[in-house]
Amino acid sequence: MSMLDICVLPGDGIGPEVTDEAVRVLDWFVAKRGVQLRMTRHLFGAASWAAQGTTMPEATWDAIMRADALLFGAVGSLDQTHIPPEERRKGALLRMRKALDVFANVRPVRAWAPLAESSPFKARTVAGADLVFVRELTAGVYFGTPRGIETQADGTRRGVNTHTYTEAEIARAARFAFELARTRRNHVTSVDKANVMEAGRLWRDVVTEVHRADFADVTLEHMLADNCALQLGRTPTRFDVIVTDNLFGDLLSDCAGAINGSLGMLPSAALSAPGPDGRRRALYEPIHGSAPDIAGKGIANPLGAILSAALLLRWTAGRPEEADRLENAVEAALAAGARTADIALPGEAVLGTRAMADAVLAALDATV
Ligand code: NAD
Ligand code: IPM
Ligand code: MN
Repeated sequence: MSMLDICVLPGDGIGPEVTDEAVRVLDWFVAKRGVQLRMTRHLFGAASWAAQGTTMPEATWDAIMRADALLFGAVGSLDQTHIPPEERRKGALLRMRKALDVFANVRPVRAWAPLAESSPFKARTVAGADLVFVRELTAGVYFGTPRGIETQADGTRRGVNTHTYTEAEIARAARFAFELARTRRNHVTSVDKANVMEAGRLWRDVVTEVHRADFADVTLEHMLADNCALQLGRTPTRFDVIVTDNLFGDLLSDCAGAINGSLGMLPSAALSAPGPDGRRRALYEPIHGSAPDIAGKGIANPLGAILSAALLLRWTAGRPEEADRLENAVEAALAAGARTADIALPGEAVLGTRAMADAVLAALDATV
């Protein structure tokens, strides 16, 4: 495989803190495992507004569109009201997702055995949980029109968003989920609100049609989204692949964060359809945000970002054995007792962001 161009977008809040550590880990794979990556940092969002008076410098947008993959930290600063709305939209994550057409958002969640006691759920409830969300990422209520805040005839305001899905948008998410399930335990749970929303009814119909036509070997169940929120805490082990829409996927994947006790543990990969060269556009990011409550303190958990780097090794670099090596190193570091504050039990020694990444790097060193 030739040299891959990785556009690194650290962003706001804890974004730069955790992204630095993911880059350090990827540097290890470049130095020690012959993975060919060239990583270049670019400014955007609130940080770039402060430095350059634009949330999306042209050079950054060019780099985003050219790159083989993006490694993204987080966006969202406490107060962006000083940034004009059109500038805010220009630097927005949603614009990148749409422009790259990364419709399939893979969000794996597993109960890491050494963290069984960090979960607010009982250890016996979460033990062995290993599921993955396929969240549709470029349609639904996040993008539907009309949208806006309008003033009504009586002078009061009305907020409007539109939840829409076409058959094609549903079908490609469903196909992705069924194909992924074939590489796992062959089970798909499709989550919707078919009881309330027309777009939900269509979601259920189209997933059923795709299943019947091409994936009858995969087990399919349908579940209403509110029940899914309950089952994720009650019996997370019953899930393999969960395919759902943009908004439900956002909410339910945060719910699943409780399985390990922290959102800081969860990675994601947003992937497009394969292009003519067979390669997918890809955006890798931890699922958490900029965490303004802990930003700048060096205490954020970098494992969501580091595990996103593992997804990059698997999906973009085509090195699944190195992705496994990294995930195993994370497990080894946790098993050796490495804990950031968000996953530590009372009385346990706590590491900062950098020291947690050091623990992963030490575990990696032990593998070669
Ligand atoms: P958040 O994910 O930033 O934080 C939620 C909670 O989880 C906080 O208590 C935070 O301290 C904790 N947390 C998150 N990541 C952590 C980590 N790595 N280590 C330890 N603890 C961690 O969500 P929020 O507070 O609702 O949102 C803050 C800002 O982030 C908002 O502006 C929001 O729009 C933005 N956001 C961005 C993304 C993204 O860039 N993909 C995702 C979610 C939220
Ligand atoms: C996520 C975030 C984003 C989303 C926000 C920051 C737009 O919460 O990636 O989970 O809602 O998709
Ligand atoms: Mn979210």
